[in-house]
Amino acid sequence: MHLNIELNGEKRTLEIQPKDMLLDVLRSAGMKSVKRGCGEGTCGACAVLIDGKPRNSCITFAASCEGSKILTVEGMGNPEKLHPLQKSFIDHGATQCGYCNPGSLIVSKALLDENPNPTAEEVKEALDGNLCRCTGYVKRVEAVLAAAREMKK
Ligand code: FES
Ligand code: FES
Repeated sequence: MHLNIELNGEKRTLEIQPKDMLLDVLRSAGMKSVKRGCGEGTCGACAVLIDGKPRNSCITFAASCEGSKILTVEGMGNPEKLHPLQKSFIDHGATQCGYCNPGSLIVSKALLDENPNPTAEEVKEALDGNLCRCTGYVKRVEAVLAAAREMKK
């Protein structure tokens, strides 16, 4: 079957099977930022935005996304032009191995899109479903708060 989506601002038609999960479809489409961690909806490494809302792509059937706008980190920024959140994660040491970062960045973006002036508590709550084995959970909260301040300038 065909899946018609807008992927990082570009209209795409992808060939999929009804049983395919969005995580695998996105990675096959070249979106290698989308990571498989637990594969069962608990770690957040595979999070993407579907119509502006963060979703774990490992437990989302690709077929359920027909007509949706999907954003992965590839659509947020690139090494030449980092998104303020990406820059802030680097500046604040909120990235080490980096495996969790795409999911955390995507969820942070969803938060700031909806609430440009979050409290530390609101950032913690938003990132509650994104596990990180390396950095602890303080640095990325600082990074999101700093990015929010930067984006208001
Ligand atoms: Fe999807 Fe862990 S890989 S939530
Ligand atoms: Fe390694 Fe988060 S930076 S898991």
